[in-house]
Amino acid sequence: MRRTLSHRILLLTVAAAALVFTPAAAGTADPDAFSAGRNAAAWSVHARLPDARTPAAGPLIAAHRGASKYAPENTMAAFRLAETMGANFIELDVRATRDGRLIALHDETVDRTTNGKGRAGELTFGEIRRLDAGGWFSPAFRGERIPSLEEVLDRFGGGIGLILELKQPSAYPGIEQALARLLTERGLDRPERGRIIIQSFDTGSLRRVRELLPNMPIAVLVRPRQRVTSRDLAEYRKFADAVHLPGASARKPVIRRIQSCGLSVMVWNIHGERQARRLLRYGVDGILTDDPLLLGR
Ligand code: G3P
Ligand code: CA
Repeated sequence: MRRTLSHRILLLTVAAAALVFTPAAAGTADPDAFSAGRNAAAWSVHARLPDARTPAAGPLIAAHRGASKYAPENTMAAFRLAETMGANFIELDVRATRDGRLIALHDETVDRTTNGKGRAGELTFGEIRRLDAGGWFSPAFRGERIPSLEEVLDRFGGGIGLILELKQPSAYPGIEQALARLLTERGLDRPERGRIIIQSFDTGSLRRVRELLPNMPIAVLVRPRQRVTSRDLAEYRKFADAVHLPGASARKPVIRRIQSCGLSVMVWNIHGERQARRLLRYGVDGILTDDPLLLGR
């Protein structure tokens, strides 16, 4: 990808910030200190917690695959930057390795985002950890690894919110149980402990999650051009709390119709400030974006 000089300088600056802002550096601090009350305030839109939202809280911003405009997607560097930039949530994609470890990875294979090749489900966690997941994005991020979900939960669970997307869960039988185990071991299955939403395009998988983790907020991801009928919404209400719409489908009447069924609405994946502000005027509960600084905070 061709980058302008100013973009390169920005990348190096954020890379430096990501390196400086290590978990160790953050370890002694209150995790909420970096995003003040915004996490708690925005989280309350997902009906399972008392409403602490205030007009000053501002819109809910979820960093899509981390702050993926500035750092390689689904890496700890991108997640730390999202936190530093004041996002309310980090969105990440969850898949499983051949030996059953859960990892943050968007694609079915490691080909696009690492220096390796192969399907995640056919590689062991050890093989995956040897891959470089940052150099493809910028030399400044060489050495980044594909994170395990444990690592993400241990670093961010209980602080900034997390939106965990089960990606193609039918390709990883038992992934819902593995996820439930990781969350319950850490007490993160209780909304008052961890601000975590589970999302997927696969409603069968989400139903299984609801059975395993009855207190966990769940969001149904809607595909581009997918029509959401009233019957769909009535079904979603049985196991979900929110609908996450693609930007092109997020028209005001659709948003209102979903919210009137008692479901929250977040919209993905928003790149432009004008579109973001229009959606906020429509009353969406939040937006997912590669750029947590989209609205200038
Ligand atoms: O949060 C919605 C979005 O993450 C779904 O698309 O392909 O970026 O995982 P994708
Ligand atoms: Ca995703």
